[in-house]
This record gives sequence, structure tokens and C-alpha cells, in this order.
Amino acid sequence: MSRTYRIIPADCADYRRLAERRLPRFLFDYIDGGANAEHTLTANCADFARLRLRQRVLCDVSQLDTRCQLFGRTLSMPLTLAPLGMAGLYARRGEVQAARAAEAVGVPFSLSTVGICAVEEVHAACAQPCWFQLYMLRDRGAVTALLQRALAAGCDTLLFTVDLPVAGIRRRDIRNGMLDAGWRGRLAKATQLALSPHWLVDVGIAGKPHHFGNLADRVADPSDLTAFKAWLDAQFDPSVSWADIHWLRQQWPGKLILKGILEPADALRALQCGADGIVLSNHGGRQLDSVASTISQLPGVASALDGRLPILLDGGVRSGVDLLKALALGAQGVLIGRPWAWALAGAGQAGVQNLLEALRNELAVAMALCGVSRIEQINAELLEPCQAG
Ligand code: GLV
Repeated sequence: MSRTYRIIPADCADYRRLAERRLPRFLFDYIDGGANAEHTLTANCADFARLRLRQRVLCDVSQLDTRCQLFGRTLSMPLTLAPLGMAGLYARRGEVQAARAAEAVGVPFSLSTVGICAVEEVHAACAQPCWFQLYMLRDRGAVTALLQRALAAGCDTLLFTVDLPVAGIRRRDIRNGMLDAGWRGRLAKATQLALSPHWLVDVGIAGKPHHFGNLADRVADPSDLTAFKAWLDAQFDPSVSWADIHWLRQQWPGKLILKGILEPADALRALQCGADGIVLSNHGGRQLDSVASTISQLPGVASALDGRLPILLDGGVRSGVDLLKALALGAQGVLIGRPWAWALAGAGQAGVQNLLEALRNELAVAMALCGVSRIEQINAELLEPCQAG
């Protein structure tokens, strides 16, 4: 006889299970999956797990403080919610729910160009402005207009994605019909939707409109998501190059962070181009499969930059212990992507808030057991020797 246990979610994996139960399969796989054979997706997590910390004792850790300064703000911990496309399909008005959770915990939320909620909707729901993520579109007028809207909504930090000149091959999206606008794809998606009645009512119907809010003024019928997606695919600009960074630098008066740098040489180029920071990222293993994990690249990139640019890292961060490891190897902070999407899909705003609080608590406990009280004290000495690159 099987018994069902109701659990209180304690970590990302618990929220992942909840998300899997709630979401139509094609949406769950869109969040969960990676490129090709998913080697890099796996390596991102596995390489964190391999790193060993050093336990230190009798260090008086009674005054623990996980706060930090990042890009002019005080955060409750060095962590930001990564920009994810279409979060308004994971939960009703998902970007707003996640932004509110981030604000309650004192960390920034990053809104994707292809979010469902527009930057104005997120702005109206929160006191703190969000960070804004930009893809380069062929229509530079559309880019300039987007940046103006983000500025008007108080955004002061721009994440410019540089690792997506073309979209990676996501086999799960092919298999489950996500990318197929023909009858086979429609049938596959309809079948998966029918198996998710809770989602259908709560998000599919009550969560409308489902167009990409930041771009809705650019296409004739924003409610036709397939036509919208086709427009977007045609708009993504594969000709983007370092020259565009100079152009962007002139358009954007706030902090400019290049997201998707993996190699030391590109990190140095970002520095020369006047970027204010980088996100060391392989796009969560969703772009070029078989590139190195981000945590394994961190020592080399940190050594090349030698403190001249802040480094945020994403890819594989699943716990407060992982966050500590990234800081120990030279990052100033991390972004989490899938974890907040799972929490949002599984339990809405309360889920994201609970997850963030759990991560902060895990970071605090790990710091205490490593014998440090403040973020500035975290360095490579917290790791077993020979792991710092
Ligand atoms: C877009 O950024 C994606 O990874 O799907």
C-alpha cells in the first residue's frame, strides 16, 4: 500500500517536484531542460557538489551578517533573481509575484525582455525598481524604446544577454511540441494542457493576457503567442558584436552588466568596453552544450579581472552552500534561475519568498560553520586547498 506524505518544501528539489506536478509538461520542460544532451546543465550542479569546504571552530560567529553592497544597493544576501522568459506562464502574473517575493527578502528581481508582465506592471507592484534584461533586436529603434521604458520605470541596472546570438537546441522542447506551430504541436500541447486542470484555470484563464508585455506595442496581435514568437525569432539579431556594446553603453546611463561571459578573454573585453560587471554564465546549460560549468570557469575569470569588475555567477546554484562556494572562488554574487521558477510554479509568491529565505539561512549557517561572520571575510581559504583553480 502506498502512502502519500505532504512535505513542507525545504529546498529547490522540493519545489521542482511541485512545479512538475502543476505545470503542463511542455512548460515544465522548458524551464527544466538544457541544450542537446544536457552535459553542461548536469556539470553546472555536479561541479558545485564536488567542491569541499573547511570547517572552522571557536570563531565567535554571534554577529552573523549576510548583507552586501552590490551595484549601489544593500542586499540581504549576494543573490539576484535571474531574468527568465515567460514567467507569467509559470504562475498567474508570475513576474509580479516573483518581484514582490524578491522585494520582501531584500534582493533584486530581473525582468526579462520576454517576460509576460510589462516593466510598468512590475514597477507598479513594487517599491524597489527591478533590474532589466535586454536581448539585442534587429530593430534598434525598438531597443531604444525598451530602454526608455525601463528607465522610466526606475530600472538602474541592465543585464545585456550576450550568449544568445542564436537559440540553443533544446531537445525537450522539440519532443513535447513546444516549438511546433503545426497540428502535431497543437495536439501535443492540448493533451498536456488537459492533464493540468489546475494550471488551466489559475494561469491559463485567470492569468491573461499572456503576450510579452514589453513588446506588445510592436506586433499587430499580441494575443497570438505563436505569431508573437515568430516575430521575436525574426527580431533576434545574430549579427550582434562588441561594437554594439559601445552603442549600448551610450544608450544606457545606468549600470551595464554583460550576461553570458564564460572565458577570461571575453571578460577582459567586457572591461575594455566599459561594462560595469559581468554575469559568468553558460545560460544555465541551455546554449552550447559541453562548455565548462560556470563554477569551474570562475577562478580563471576572477584571476584575469583581478578585482576590476564585479562578477556575478549563474548556473547550478541550488543552495546557500553553493552561494558560499561561488563567493569563495571570487564571485561578488550569484543569480538563480530555475530555482525561483520552480518555486513560483509550485507555490507562487510565498514559495519564492520561502525559497529565498531558506537560501539566506543556509548561507548564514554555512558561514558560521566555516568560521566567518561577514560576506567580505569569504575567500578561497574556506575551501580545501587545490580547489581555487
Ligand atoms: C531564453 O533565454 C532561454 O533560455 O530560453
